[in-house]
Amino acid sequence: MSRPVFWLRCEKKEFEKRAALTPTTAKKLIDAGFDIIVERDEQRIFDDSEYEAVGCKLVENNSWPSAPKEIPIIGLKELPVSTDPLPHTHIQFAHCYKNQAGWVDVLSRFDRGNGTLYDLEFLEDDNGRRVAAFGFHAGFAGAAAGALAVAAERKGEKLGQLNPYPNEAAMIEGVKKALGGSGKGVKALVIGALGRCGRGAVDLFKKIGLEDDDILKWDLEETAKGGPFQEILDVDIFINCIYLSSKIPSFITHETIAAAGKSRRLSVVVDVSCDTTNPFNPIPIYSINTTFSEPTVRVDLPSELPPLSVISIDHLPTLLPRESSEQFSIDLLPSLLQFPNRNSARVWTDANKLFEKKLADARAVA
Ligand SMILES: NC(=O)c1ccc[n+]([C@@H]2O[C@H](COP(=O)([O-])OP(=O)(O)OC[C@H]3O[C@@H](n4cnc5c(N)ncnc54)[C@H](O)[C@@H]3O)[C@@H](O)[C@H]2O)c1
Repeated sequence: MSRPVFWLRCEKKEFEKRAALTPTTAKKLIDAGFDIIVERDEQRIFDDSEYEAVGCKLVENNSWPSAPKEIPIIGLKELPVSTDPLPHTHIQFAHCYKNQAGWVDVLSRFDRGNGTLYDLEFLEDDNGRRVAAFGFHAGFAGAAAGALAVAAERKGEKLGQLNPYPNEAAMIEGVKKALGGSGKGVKALVIGALGRCGRGAVDLFKKIGLEDDDILKWDLEETAKGGPFQEILDVDIFINCIYLSSKIPSFITHETIAAAGKSRRLSVVVDVSCDTTNPFNPIPIYSINTTFSEPTVRVDLPSELPPLSVISIDHLPTLLPRESSEQFSIDLLPSLLQFPNRNSARVWTDANKLFEKKLADARAVA
């Protein structure tokens, strides 16, 4: 019997340095009997040589369209927009199952090519939880960006462009340095602290030196009394990490900020959840997503009040591409090991059923 194969394609999305398969997981797959083909990619945080060293076969950048049809192609983010049919099996985030812009066009490419999509966002374990997600590092990176913004505000400046860090140690060192050597004395409130993103935010704050008492960790129990919450105005950074599933009272409003007057402590809000355009967004004090090049947006407030910045970047894990890829890829590994049995392994049969359903939905409106 021939060995099972995965083909790791390059990423074409700007700034995307993460990878679905890292050299660590590639090696584990090779040890388990797989062949791993990797496209050379200058953009990726992992050097081509790291894959070569563990026994992967390196091929030209973006050469997957000419790969044999039976080889599954694994990647992370969306493929560039095109009308070309897709004859392969693709494992990736395709962002086309929630009626996002262009969803029919993406699915019809699979339909015309007779290909299959296994969307990474919808691979679930027996308890219905995602097998792999980037949440922890979204919270971790969001808290780092928030701490950098506090450091900038203290100097009366706006936070400048954010650039991905080579590793976690460099990020922690950079944030501590910006805060004068340590985050000690900074006070933070994390809502959604028991979730993936929330745990990441708390971890970053501990690693940059905040006292444990200065990290307020809230989840459902603490917000049950209903917002808005004065406690948010009494810390330096507020990080929102909740999974929003229904209408809830706002956590903070223009009115509560105005009522806090000139003595307000809060200077930075990081909305990791980024429900920016959701009508139930519990942080209705801003209306755009910010970016790595313009990480903050100022809340519109009377000029006599101290400034308040919001960070609402929707791809925060990209700020820490190495560690976030490692975590994601390791969590994905057990499912990848089952892929040769994809016609019977539940994680894959469920994902295939969902694909077939979405394909039918797309056909109905095409
Ligand atoms: N900005 C980014 O780059 C980025 C990246 C990944 C995830 N996200 C988003 O972050 C959000 C959280 O993701 P996650 O993976 O951490 O989810 P999760 O389900 O692991 O955690 C969510 C937490 O929020 C809590 N929660 C829900 N409603 C609450 C409320 N009203 N009050 C207090 N706590 C509440 C839950 O109890 C849970 O502990 C999602 O919306 C996700 O899409 C953003």
